[in-house]
Amino acid sequence: MKRKPMMAGNWKMNNTISEGVVLAQQICNRFEKDWGEDVDVVLCTPFLDLKPAWTVVDFENLPIYIGAQNCYWEEAGAFTGEISVGMLKEARVTHCIIGHSERRTLFGELNEDVNKKAKALLAQKMTPIICVGESLSVRDEGTHLEYVCAQVKAAFAGIDDIDAKNCVVAYEPIWAIGTGRTATPEQAQEVCAAIRSTLAELYGQEIADGMRVLYGGSMNTGNVEGLLAMEDIDGGLIGGAALKAESFVELIKACL
Ligand code: 13P
Repeated sequence: MKRKPMMAGNWKMNNTISEGVVLAQQICNRFEKDWGEDVDVVLCTPFLDLKPAWTVVDFENLPIYIGAQNCYWEEAGAFTGEISVGMLKEARVTHCIIGHSERRTLFGELNEDVNKKAKALLAQKMTPIICVGESLSVRDEGTHLEYVCAQVKAAFAGIDDIDAKNCVVAYEPIWAIGTGRTATPEQAQEVCAAIRSTLAELYGQEIADGMRVLYGGSMNTGNVEGLLAMEDIDGGLIGGAALKAESFVELIKACL
């Protein structure tokens, strides 16, 4: 089955409001409107940059989505420092990364939290980009497939097949993030195929075949073609290379 690829830029904690506006504008300046038919492009910005980035994209009238990098599952209340899905929705956010390895390792985010966040996003018809991925020690033990598939099962617990179709999974091996050490296309394919098999176990082959599985971890203009050529890799979740319009747009073009 031919799936529409997705290129999502994860800006992480980079770009002040003014810097974010400049980057969004530079991306728009290089972006052709009809690309939106062939690839879904998402800018996952820090919270403060969401509305300004959306304003740039909207002014340019381009098919580029705006995504957040985290959310909280409760609707409102005494949760100091958190941002609700409803708040994101009103800021025109359509996608949200959840369960990124940096949130799991640095901020203690658990599989159960990822599951609650996915459900809260789906309830508001937003697209969760659910991150999974193993550490180097898990890979060295040779248990990476079991580990990642267990993360997928936990993230999707209690999510029905209609909602599952609206989810994107991103495989990001922790040892490849920001290290310049990319997984080989074969290593990435092995895990992305296992993720799709897990989704097929949960929702049936047809639904699994329609869902997008992205790769993330030092994806760049030099390795993107090989990764995208793999059967079960439907795009990328990009960190460093998404911080420059030139490289991010090159990665988008690799999907066309
Ligand atoms: P890098 O592309 O910088 O390795 O980051 C990947 C990532 O964590 C995207 O979410």
